[in-house]
This record gives sequence, structure tokens and C-alpha cells, in this order.
Amino acid sequence: MSRKKIVAGNWKMNLDRAKAKELTAAVAARRGEAAAVELVLCPPAVYVETVGTTLTAAKSDVGLGAQNMLDKASGAFTGEVAPPMLVDLGCQYVILGHSERRTLFGEIDAAVNMKTKAALAAGLVPIVCVGETLEEREADRTAAVVSGQVQGSLAGLSPADLEKVVVAYEPVWAIGTGKVATPEQAQEVHALIRGLLAKLSSPEVAGRVRIQYGGSVKPDNAADLARQPDIDGALVGGASLKADDFLGIAKAFG
Ligand code: PGA
Repeated sequence: MSRKKIVAGNWKMNLDRAKAKELTAAVAARRGEAAAVELVLCPPAVYVETVGTTLTAAKSDVGLGAQNMLDKASGAFTGEVAPPMLVDLGCQYVILGHSERRTLFGEIDAAVNMKTKAALAAGLVPIVCVGETLEEREADRTAAVVSGQVQGSLAGLSPADLEKVVVAYEPVWAIGTGKVATPEQAQEVHALIRGLLAKLSSPEVAGRVRIQYGGSVKPDNAADLARQPDIDGALVGGASLKADDFLGIAKAFG
């Protein structure tokens, strides 16, 4: 089963408008270095438009994504961003259920599930994040925790919707710590997720879902991860803030 690899940059709450433009232009200019890979930039919400117009000006096919959204189309939800607003700015993707959203902002699987459905209804590709904490891994609960998150976050999706979803496996202990999971550790969980998706739908559908690895991915560890059969790309935090590093990672998946 050949799945198009997808490497997304999660800029988190970093950069300013000028730097966002500069980084976008640099990635767009060097996009050819990883031509076989789908690339996505996920800037802070307030810079989505700037990044989008910079990509359009460069006639680039680099994708545009947001880092979060609410599951409602409009209304009295102070401070929130609606799926159609993201579409309006040219977004095609949205990261949902990132571990920082789950742990710092109390997002539970049921909320991630509603957002996932709302994203799909709006025509956005959800990048749904799951992953265990160090404590959970050390207690041998990785499979149970990740299975619960996958089932809870993706409950009730039609097979047609499920195959549009990108799942990001991000062990919490590897995010921003410099401690990357070994390729074997990551592959084991990716295979578990794919097996679960097969049970939720069918092996054919599960075989088409892209599963990214995230957590301290760098140019020098990306190639080993990319060689694993169920790792279909990366969700990159820190290293996505430098064009060299982001493209270096993307190249490893090409
Ligand atoms: P990191 O972040 O690459 O800085 O570890 C990954 C993520 O949180 O998506």
C-alpha cells in the first residue's frame, strides 16, 4: 500500500509576522527538494492569512493548516476560531487534540471527536494527535492509552471520512524534549494504531490512513523513522522553525 508521505510543521506559539513570511517563502522556494512529500505549514491562527498569501504569491503547493479550532461554525464563543473561517483563509488542514491542548487546556477525546467531525464537515483534513505520557509508558499502559485516544477521537466516522484523517502519534515524553522514540518503539505503536483503524473500518481503509510520528524529529533521526513501514511522515515542532531542518526532515521521507 503506497501512502503519500506527509510532513507538517507545527509552529506552536512562535515567530512574528515578518518571520512567518520569511520562513514560508524559504520553504516554498525549496519545496522541490522534497517534491514527493506533502508539506504542510501550521502557523499560529493570527498568521494563517499571512502564510497563506505568501504561499499563493509563490504559487506553491505547500499546504496550510491551523493548530486548533472550535467545532462550531459561528456564534457566541469568545476567543475561538471556526472551521469555515479557516477554510476562508485557505486552510486545508487542522491539527486537533495536540498533547498541549489535551494537558494544558483540558481537551478530552470527546471534544477532539466533535472537532474532528466538524473539520471533516468543513472540508478540512484533521491531523489528530494521540500519545502516552512517560508515566503511562513506564506503567506499560501505552497500548491502552493510545487505543483509547484513537477510538475516542475517531468514534463514529464513516470509512470515507476516516481515510481522510491523518493520525499523529506523538509520545508526550518525546515532545520538545530531544528524546525521540526509537524507530522500533514508534513502529510498534503505529502498527497498533493501524490495526485498530482496521477494526474500526476495514484493512483497506486503514491501509490508506497516513500515520505521522511526532516528538523531537530532527534531520538526523528522520531517515530511520522514515524507513519504518507504518510511519508515513512527521509532525514537527521545534525543527519546523528552520527551513533547513524542516526540509531536511521532509527529504528523509521523500
Ligand atoms: P517537537 O514537537 O518536534 O518540538 O518535539 C512536536 C509536536 O509537538 O508536534
